[in-house]
Amino acid sequence: MSILYRSDAARAAAWANYFAEHAPDLDFRVWPDAGDLDEVEYLIAWQAPAEFIVTLPRLKVFFSSGAGVDHVDFSAVPAHIPIVRMVEPGIINGMVEYVSLAVLALHRDFFDYVAAKAARVWDPLEVPPASARTIGVMGMGALGCAVLARLASYGFRLRGWNRSLREMDGVEGFAGPDQLHTFLEGCDVLVCLLPLTPATKGILNREVFSALPAGAALINVARGPHLVDADLLEALDSGRLSRAILDVTEPEPLPVEHPFWAHPRVFLTPHVASMTQPESAAPILLANLRRHQQGEPLSDVIDRSRGY
Ligand code: GLV
Repeated sequence: MSILYRSDAARAAAWANYFAEHAPDLDFRVWPDAGDLDEVEYLIAWQAPAEFIVTLPRLKVFFSSGAGVDHVDFSAVPAHIPIVRMVEPGIINGMVEYVSLAVLALHRDFFDYVAAKAARVWDPLEVPPASARTIGVMGMGALGCAVLARLASYGFRLRGWNRSLREMDGVEGFAGPDQLHTFLEGCDVLVCLLPLTPATKGILNREVFSALPAGAALINVARGPHLVDADLLEALDSGRLSRAILDVTEPEPLPVEHPFWAHPRVFLTPHVASMTQPESAAPILLANLRRHQQGEPLSDVIDRSRGY
């Protein structure tokens, strides 16, 4: 029984070590040292190119090595093979840290003080309590809900918007396109944690920015194509939005001539908000694989028709 890892090479050894210790019955292989591909039943990979998937005739489960599966060509993976997304505490904690940092930096005016320091200006701004700000999270999946739970601990007012309504204590819930506008009207900071699907591509656009209160800020930690870049630049330059913190862009890396680089009110990080951590991901993936071997239902299988 073989499992093939074909993802980030830097973290392959950590995966291989975990499986060697905890699942010696499984033959864990690391690409390109894949051996006989006829024997591979489980695949851990970031992408699934059609020409590669056809070389695995006995494949039973495709485990995505990341949380998002928008880059996976579903049509390349035969319909009877479940595609499992990565939901693990390491990814969740990383996202919670990054969004908390971003929200707190906005709330406590850190970006203004970076500029003030550069100009040698001592200019204390007002310090409103967290309860004076409303943070809205688009996408109430595993990541969105964990982020909301942590933000609640600081005392922010919270809103969540999801495809279908999700109840969460202390979070005002909104659902679907009909309630998007009402959701946005109250958000001082908008956090995008949506999966990228045809329905959410370009959702961070002029219409959404004009529905937000004037001076609101945007944090995009989902995918670059959620954002219409020109609409963001227009919203920042007109003062409708105060700032944007972007961890994702389209394309990645962001070309050096892109206006986001030089924009004083855009803060950029190179898609590092959160990463799969082999130490916490491997046990979860192995437990899921064991469920499959025992004929039990797998967790975190994506719904191909929904796209996530
Ligand atoms: C990273 O963006 C992931 O989807 O895991």
